[in-house]
Amino acid sequence: MGDSAAKTFFPTPPLLAEVPRDRWPGHVAAIMDGNGRWAKQRGLPRIEGHRQGAKTVRRIVEESARLGLRQLTLYAFSHENWSRPKEEVAQLMSLYENYLIDERPTLMKDNIHFRNIGRRDGLPESVLREIDQSERASAANTGLTLCLAVNYGGRQEIVDAARRLAVEAAAGKLDPAAIDEDRFAAALYTAGLSDPDLLLRTAAEMRVSNFLLWQISYAEIYVTETLWPDFAEADLHRAIADFARRQRRFGGLENT
Ligand code: IPE
Ligand code: IPE
Ligand code: MG
Repeated sequence: MGDSAAKTFFPTPPLLAEVPRDRWPGHVAAIMDGNGRWAKQRGLPRIEGHRQGAKTVRRIVEESARLGLRQLTLYAFSHENWSRPKEEVAQLMSLYENYLIDERPTLMKDNIHFRNIGRRDGLPESVLREIDQSERASAANTGLTLCLAVNYGGRQEIVDAARRLAVEAAAGKLDPAAIDEDRFAAALYTAGLSDPDLLLRTAAEMRVSNFLLWQISYAEIYVTETLWPDFAEADLHRAIADFARRQRRFGGLENT
């Protein structure tokens, strides 16, 4: 294999060598947890864990694009995370802003389509500006969809959707009888996006913490003890290989 070919040729990672491509998840969603514990283990301030976590985001986004996944959704800041100390919240916001600026060239190079989900209300102007800029710049990209959940809460999303539909109905523009699952899903922040096939959570916590409550109804759940800052490409491959072994039944019976 010559140098130029090596640039475009991406060998199947060893952990995925035996896994048929049609068994891979199309959409992977991740609850990125354990940044604080990672820092604490090292006697560092929590922000250092978040900084290291941002590096993991870069690696996992690039790897997901390389693997040809359809979508990667990352839980970056929850509605409930506002209850953290002001200083940590401010540091996280500035980390998002810098991430969005720094990663924009990668989005374009790797043909990644960027989407943000969550409430805009409450986010600093500077973060909103960079979100809008990344969404605009990458709108025509056709590769991986990277969806970042910032100021996101699953319950809040459902309430917002219900309110939108109620407003339309009250204005006589929507017949309440026409509200079905598809119509409701189209009123969520994730309108037009697929539901996650695989939901992974790092740092061993066995809960969903208000993430994508509607969308994960049939997601396969994978929890690892690995802390998010330590989560490596091989951990993603391991999760995908594990997913590929699952029998999804969607309420039916095996092989039907
Ligand atoms: C996840 O790491 C990042 C965010 C929630 C922003 P944590 O900050 O929750 O890390 P732990 O749970 O304290 O280890
Ligand atoms: C979930 O992690 C939110 C994000 C990863 C952004 P948390 O650390 O906030 O969740 P809890 O508090 O342990 O449930
Ligand atoms: Mg946590």
